[in-house]
Order: sequence, then structure tokens, then C-alpha cells
Amino acid sequence: MADGGLDLTPEQMRELGYAAVDAVVEHLTTLRDGPTFTAPPPDLAERILEPPPEQGSDPVQLLGWLRSEVLAAGVRNHHPGMFAFIPVAPTFPGVVADMLAAGMNVFAGSFQSGPGASVIELEVLGWFRELLGLAPSADGVIASGGSTANLVGLAVARDRRPEGGAARVAYTTSEAHSSVGRALRLLGMDRVHEVEVDERFGMRPDALSAAMAADAAAGLVPWCVIAAAGTTNTGAVDDLPALRRVADEHGAWIHVDGAYGGFLALTDRGRAAMPGLELADTLVLDAHKSLYCPLLAGIVFARDGAELERTFTVRPAYLKDMDRYGGVNFADRGIELSRPFRALKVWLTVKTFGLREIRAALDRSLDLALLAARLIEESPRLELVTGPSLGVVNFRSAAGVAVERMMAEVVSAGAYISATTVRGERTARICALGHRSDEAALRSVVEAAAAAN
Ligand SMILES: Cc1ncc(COP(=O)(O)O)c(C=O)c1O
Repeated sequence: MADGGLDLTPEQMRELGYAAVDAVVEHLTTLRDGPTFTAPPPDLAERILEPPPEQGSDPVQLLGWLRSEVLAAGVRNHHPGMFAFIPVAPTFPGVVADMLAAGMNVFAGSFQSGPGASVIELEVLGWFRELLGLAPSADGVIASGGSTANLVGLAVARDRRPEGGAARVAYTTSEAHSSVGRALRLLGMDRVHEVEVDERFGMRPDALSAAMAADAAAGLVPWCVIAAAGTTNTGAVDDLPALRRVADEHGAWIHVDGAYGGFLALTDRGRAAMPGLELADTLVLDAHKSLYCPLLAGIVFARDGAELERTFTVRPAYLKDMDRYGGVNFADRGIELSRPFRALKVWLTVKTFGLREIRAALDRSLDLALLAARLIEESPRLELVTGPSLGVVNFRSAAGVAVERMMAEVVSAGAYISATTVRGERTARICALGHRSDEAALRSVVEAAAAAN
């Protein structure tokens, strides 16, 4: 190390930085040689845990140890064989953007501190406002993940629709992501009406209408409909135009969780499958899912962008100078003051590859889900339970073999799928989203699942 202090010499910085880049490049270029999932060794914690050292040591050597001991087990979300949960597969420019943002230590909370970052975040949000056909007044913020973005959006809904106070009711379905329920609880919005879903797991507009009318008749106030543009379980998309009409009859807000599905609307098929995104009062999209950025970049848009600032702006004495240079302070649009330059990874990803390449990758995911459904239907050993809807299909064994056995066989084949519950039945679930996933990887998953039967 350099002689005392917390700085490294330029040579040491380069050596460590290059070693880290080499590690990532080697990891990415040999990804296919290894499995998608490695179960954690039973003694993982014992192998890792040590008291903090009084004396420092060579970080390049620590990096080697980290790779073999800390980073080896678990799910490789970006592996071609990853079809579990919501696969998240960042591109290398996105990864470098995160390193750059950390290295330059950009404070993207205020215009004064990070003016360029503020402009880039506005630019990126503006791109997607246009591309998704959102209202010209729409604006947003890049929060940490989709869970936080849901919290931010619902906080706006709570504050901008105060009428009714504790009598306000939220409307969701059994298919809403768990982060929605948690956000409502954190916001103290405990009255939740679960609305029936149709056979494709979308919220039934007629059931919503009946639920709202019944609540209003009981002296409650229909407050916010929480709809989905791609549910986690089945990829279901709610009928946003119809829900909007019902919500409008009661003056209710619509928050749309498009954390998984939203960016698929960049493709023609995705757009056709999700009409009405522009009707959301608040809309969530995860750039670390369907825009191939590294964790995390959960975007929330408000149809009237100024609603975000009305909800979140605070000016304590020590921040009074924040507005001196004009410009947008993104701390005013969410719950973080100090925040990293997350827009950089979105910007560098889009600028490096261009929208055409990104759309092509999203289209491949939609194709893979179609193929998965076809292969499952063609297999005498498997039965399709749901889908394809966006990139998601659910299936079961025709012979009643447990989902766990099929999952184990898929893991043995080097790939990974997850399980969920559909209409009370445990099902195996495939979600195609990783940009490295291809037909060969998908076929091997279906073949392995069938072989377990
Ligand atoms: C539909 C949906 N909403 C919200 C979330 C939460 O997003 P995050 O994991 O980025 O917090 C997820 C995560 O998979 C999701 O699928």
C-alpha cells in the first residue's frame, strides 16, 4: 500500500482496477462453461467470516479469495440458462458505468453537486417518456429497485389523493408483487380490497367496479388501483384502459407496476400486449430487469411529474443553497438525498447498443416464451398451465411428478427455473428475459424437465 493514509498509488489503483476488470471479463466469457446455480456449501459462513484485520493486506489477493469463496455459489442471474424468478442480465457497459459513477463519486441528489448527472437522468427519463408514449407532463426518478419505486409511486398517490383519510381503499389482486403490499403497509394504507382476477390473471374491471361501488356505499373512499403490466407469477397484464375508466368514475389513482414487463413495451408485440401505460398516474419500470442494467435502477414515472416534487421536496437549513444553480434536484423526487448516478448505466447501455439491439433482445425473450409454451405443449410428459404471457410460462408434469424433481433435473442440466403457485397448484415456471438466453438453453431446460417425468 501507499505509505499511510487511505489512498493507493496510481500503479496500485491500476493493478487493482485491471484485476477487477479481468475478473469480470473472465467471468462473463466463461459463463457458459459453468452452471447457472450452485448451491451454497453448508460451511459457507465459517469459510467467509473473520474478525476485521488490524493490518491491511493486498486487495488483488483479496479479489482472488472473494472470487473463489464469496462469489462462487448462488444464482448466476446473467447466465444463458437462467429462466428462474426474473432473470437480470446486465451488459458490460452498464457495469462499467456503475464503476465510473462510484469512482467519480457522483452525488446525483442535487443539481449543484451533480449537474451533468441531473441532465443525463432527465434525458434518459425523457427518452422513455417518448418511447412509451407517456404524457408530455410525465416525469420521473430512478429509485433503487422496483420495490422502492412502488413505494415512491404509492407515496405520491397517498399524498396527492388525501380525500377520505383513513377511509381510503387500495385495490389490488392476488397477483400483485409482494413489494406492493409492503409499500402500502409502510405508508399506513392498510385498507386493501383484493379484486377478483379473470382466467388470464388480470384484474376484472367489472369486479373492480363492484368493489368500488360497495366500498363507497359503505362510507369508504376508493383511492388507488394498483395494476400490473406483467405480473411476476404469470406475466399477466391488466386491462389498463378499462381499469382507468372504472377508476375515473370514483376519482381514484392508478399505479401500474411494470417493474418486470414495462420495458417490453419497447417492442411492437410488447406494446400491443400492454396498451394504456400512458393512463397510469404513476408507473414503475425496472431498468435492471428488462433494460439490461446492473442492479439497481427502478424507475417511477408520475403522469404529472410535478407530483413527485410536491410529495418529496424538503429544504432543511443545510440544503437551502441547493437551488442556486437551477436545474432539477433528483432528491426532490424520491426518498433518497444522497443517491448514486444510476442514470449513467441506463444511458451508457442505450448509447452503446442502440434501441434496435435492445428491442431485438427483448423480442428474443418473447420468442423464447412462445417456444417454451410450444415445446411444453408438444411434450407428452408436460402440461402448460399458463402463458405464454410476455416472457412467462407455467407448467406441470403430466404424470404428477413434483415440481422440485423437475427443478432438480434442470439444475443438473446446468440451467435454472423456479416454482410458484397458480390457482392453488404448485407449478414450474419459466421466465425468459436474459439477453444471453437462446433456443439451445431453453430447449435443454424443457428437455430436462420432461426427463424428470
Ligand atoms: C412485478 C414486480 N414488481 C416489483 C418487483 C420488485 O422489484 P425489485 O426486485 O427491483 O425491488 C418485482 C421483482 O421481481 C416484480 O417482478
